[in-house]
Amino acid sequence: MPDVTILGIETSCDETGAAVVRSGQKILSNVVASQIATHQPYGGVVPELASREHLRAIVPVVRQALAEATRTYESLDAIAVTQGPGLAGALLVGISFAKALAFALEKPLIAVNHIEGHIHAVLLERKQSGNDDLQFPVLALVASGGHTHLYLARQEGHGWTYQNIGHTRDDAAGEAFDKVAKLLGLGYPGGPTIDQLAAYGNPSAVSFPASQLKHRDRNRPQADDQPRFDFSYSGIKTSVLRYVEVHQLQTSIEARRKALAGISKPNLEDYLLHCDTKTLSLVASFQRAVVEDLVAKTLAAASACDVATLFVTGGVAANNELRQRFEQAAAMEGLPVYFPSRPLATDNAAMIAAAAYPKFLAGDFAAEDFSAEAGMKL
Ligand code: KG4
Ligand code: ZN
Repeated sequence: MPDVTILGIETSCDETGAAVVRSGQKILSNVVASQIATHQPYGGVVPELASREHLRAIVPVVRQALAEATRTYESLDAIAVTQGPGLAGALLVGISFAKALAFALEKPLIAVNHIEGHIHAVLLERKQSGNDDLQFPVLALVASGGHTHLYLARQEGHGWTYQNIGHTRDDAAGEAFDKVAKLLGLGYPGGPTIDQLAAYGNPSAVSFPASQLKHRDRNRPQADDQPRFDFSYSGIKTSVLRYVEVHQLQTSIEARRKALAGISKPNLEDYLLHCDTKTLSLVASFQRAVVEDLVAKTLAAASACDVATLFVTGGVAANNELRQRFEQAAAMEGLPVYFPSRPLATDNAAMIAAAAYPKFLAGDFAAEDFSAEAGMKL
């Protein structure tokens, strides 16, 4: 098969990404401009600010991606861009730019679902390390700031087909990390901070309800008799809030928030200096509860659907405890489990260019009038 070089563009949330990927298997460049500093004072992503920052960053980020890949615009075979799901205004920046580029260069344009991108991040790195063998069906857990989804994936021709067999009924797993971190005065985004701090607390100190979903809800059959494996993380966030109130942690949280706000880029030592034992154990217990729930439901789904391979991807897949627990649990079941490397777990454009490759082979190009789809499903 001839080499196909695709420029991927990703602007669905708070990272402006551009990447050049060859034939869905070799990353030539992967540039991500993060907006963390912009949104940090607000404790979460502010959609209007996200669009403005994408507008600022898109041209330099795309130029850098081409320069690092030592490719010219003319040498590209196609432009791929995230169509959704995500913030409408943020998506539109990437889509408008990609459309203009494709039109000017007379190159095909490929619209990619962001969630499919997260799944292809795993495949891309498997291929990059020379592993082409993959047993289907694959069960993919996509856990990020916006999604907690389980998909049964199968190969069909050049591409993959997906069947959703579970999703969150309320908050996404990453959203729970971010909200709990915000609640505890630990800044934004919360996932990476909680990940680091959890190692210093006692994960058994606080017990949270195992699952907020009743059994009959969780395994509700669909029309096709496929059992469902849904998630729910808003209850655990409320439990953390209740713990804070009962143990009167508000004053120390406020002190921590103020102290950390005065440090431009707090590091682990800064966080540890401002966290007492109780807080560290609360953080560790929260993480343990979320991780155990993600692992238990995913493994239950894997066994019910008789899958051959497990993918765990999305920003939350960067979590150390999650990776360890999945590795242990999957080994017990004799299931291979694959994760993206940490830079490819969180939002990036290499995964978009990789997901576009089978679409390129299938001639599945975007219509000229395609637009952002904020609630796009996979
Ligand atoms: O995939 P992603 O970059 O963006 C979305 O598509 O949402 O995921 C971002 C989410 C955030 O909620 C962030 O807190 C979480 O992933 N995250 C983590 C870790 N790194 C990022 N959660 C737990 N542990 C981590 N190490
Ligand atoms: Zn994402």
